[in-house]
Amino acid sequence: MCTRWDETTGSQGQTLHTLHGTITAMGFRTKQVHGGVKPDPTTGAILTPIYQSTTFVQESVENYMGKGYSYSRAGNPTVRALEEKLTALEGGLDATAFSSGMAATVAIFLGLLEAGDHVVIADVVYGGTYRFADQFLTKFGVDVAFVDAASTDDVRAAIRPKTKIVFTETPANPTLKVTDLAAVSRICEAAGVLHVSDNTFLTPYFQRPFELGADIVIHSTTKFLDGHNATIGGAVVVKDAELQEKIAFARIAAGLVMSPMVAWLTLQGIKTLSVRMDSQSASAMTIAEFLQGHHSVDYVNYPGLPDHPQHELSKAQASGFGAIVGFEVHGGVEAGKKLMNAVELWSLAENLGSVESLITHPVTMTHAAVPRDKRIATGITDGLVRLSVGLEDVEDLIHDLDSALSRV
Ligand SMILES: Cc1ncc(COP(=O)(O)O)c(C=O)c1O
Repeated sequence: MCTRWDETTGSQGQTLHTLHGTITAMGFRTKQVHGGVKPDPTTGAILTPIYQSTTFVQESVENYMGKGYSYSRAGNPTVRALEEKLTALEGGLDATAFSSGMAATVAIFLGLLEAGDHVVIADVVYGGTYRFADQFLTKFGVDVAFVDAASTDDVRAAIRPKTKIVFTETPANPTLKVTDLAAVSRICEAAGVLHVSDNTFLTPYFQRPFELGADIVIHSTTKFLDGHNATIGGAVVVKDAELQEKIAFARIAAGLVMSPMVAWLTLQGIKTLSVRMDSQSASAMTIAEFLQGHHSVDYVNYPGLPDHPQHELSKAQASGFGAIVGFEVHGGVEAGKKLMNAVELWSLAENLGSVESLITHPVTMTHAAVPRDKRIATGITDGLVRLSVGLEDVEDLIHDLDSALSRV
């Protein structure tokens, strides 16, 4: 498949190749099934084969890389199919897949920063992103400012002459705070700074940061894109050839590669992305409404609720609210722990975005790396519970939560 970013229209023209010819596909569902994948030229296999091979034999020294591949750290046909599918879904120019979402984030920093540079990172982001910036970027002489990205004034004020990147995540893990992507993109463009947006929570099905002016989109493909708790992976999508070169070079140089098997499983997962997102988000809304009326719940964070402070912004920049719900169980950390031990259908586990419903205590699990004072200041309170709503019957999920809540 070839994908081309049109700078003048900000859209992409793309062509899908089938055994019987070429079709132009514009709809998201068509792209999620066919994007990046063409029948295997040797056998006609409808699924891209798992090219489980370290190296690729060259025809001659003169025709080195004649078939496009040399060594799987630099590129692999199965991984390439996933990169092309993600490019099509996000509406970018190109993509690079990585061994994890964190590897994707690290590759952006490795590829684009040098000592003395400054980075602005949203104060609520995935805990691992915070940890890498706080403990490693600073070690290599990069200054980091953690800023409330929901306040465009704060973002504008944080930018310095040496700022290279503003890194946002929306809705943010785990408080579901929403950043105005278009407003941050405008600030970045005016300052000549790159806007990197982590689109893991909503996926391109619900939110496309490039259409809101972002320069780079990053994913933990581990989450909704795979959707089946089967793989750890990540990707960076860009709309600029120079950025692509730098990010791909960081992968080769640091060896942050995705395996062909992981790429293949992720390719299959993505084919049902829209169906899963629609269903899981609808259940998340029902569960958020149930929790909001529950006497054991202090408050609920879900952008789909009309009283969420950024409900209107969410509606304007995304076509769905996602499948992650946060809430504070009455009784703080002890009640939270009791609740998580009492559920039976919900799995007490890290990760999110899978067909299995998961329940997480960010303070002791995903955000344990964030110091308590910083956590509390950004809304990651001791009793915060994060739900990743799966594909089970919503009535069963509510029944299990209700009976667990009655025991806290
Ligand atoms: C929003 C977000 N970004 C990035 C990551 C890191 O992804 P991975 O676990 O694939 O390294 C996570 C993991 O939970 C996440 O939630």
